[in-house]
Amino acid sequence: MSTKRIVVLISGSGSNLQALINACAQGDIQASIVAVISNRPRVYGLERAQAAGIETQTLDHKNFAERAAFDQALKALIDSFQPDLVVLAGFMRILTAEFVQAYTGRMLNIHPSLLPAYKGVHTHQRALDDQAQIHGASVHFVTAELDAGAVVLQAEVPVLAEDTAETLAARVLVKEHRIYPQVVAWFCAERLSYQDGAAYLDGQRLLAPLKLKHNAV
Ligand code: GRF
Repeated sequence: MSTKRIVVLISGSGSNLQALINACAQGDIQASIVAVISNRPRVYGLERAQAAGIETQTLDHKNFAERAAFDQALKALIDSFQPDLVVLAGFMRILTAEFVQAYTGRMLNIHPSLLPAYKGVHTHQRALDDQAQIHGASVHFVTAELDAGAVVLQAEVPVLAEDTAETLAARVLVKEHRIYPQVVAWFCAERLSYQDGAAYLDGQRLLAPLKLKHNAV
């Protein structure tokens, strides 16, 4: 099996990117991250990539009048690296259906909620506002409908009475750094696949998201 090529898209700090970089370096993911692309200049995630010797590119969406024009330029840039997998790691842009279509079954995203709950933004504050007892994160395949693609793996965290959106986000992020490398590792080992809107692990259709065990550190 050939070593897979991954392109990671970011918009900010890149802590999920760092977890993927570490997992590749440790051999837990049989792949190499061949490029990191940011839609925002000078974000910390780019520094993390450069420190790991990974090529970085910035494609500032502010330089494009139309969303479709940005997506076309982004697709051309991504394809120039010939990736097997595109990973969205804190990439805060809504992508057009045309763009998403081109990467069906080979583009993953991490979302800071237990999908289908709290699609979109401000997930931690919304969970607090609803007095949710349990919250978490989800890794899913990307489809044209926002945060609606087949969910592969989730991690749950308790919501504490004294939580703020920041303290809850920090607890969820720790779990994100566990589940994202796991799902990317499955994909790169050709154990995870996607067909007709569903995810398959080792040939078994996932009828519900897999869950990271509570006591998994
Ligand atoms: C994460 O919580 C991720 O789920 C969300 O954006 C945040 C980005 O974090 N999409 P980082 O940039 O990976 O640190």
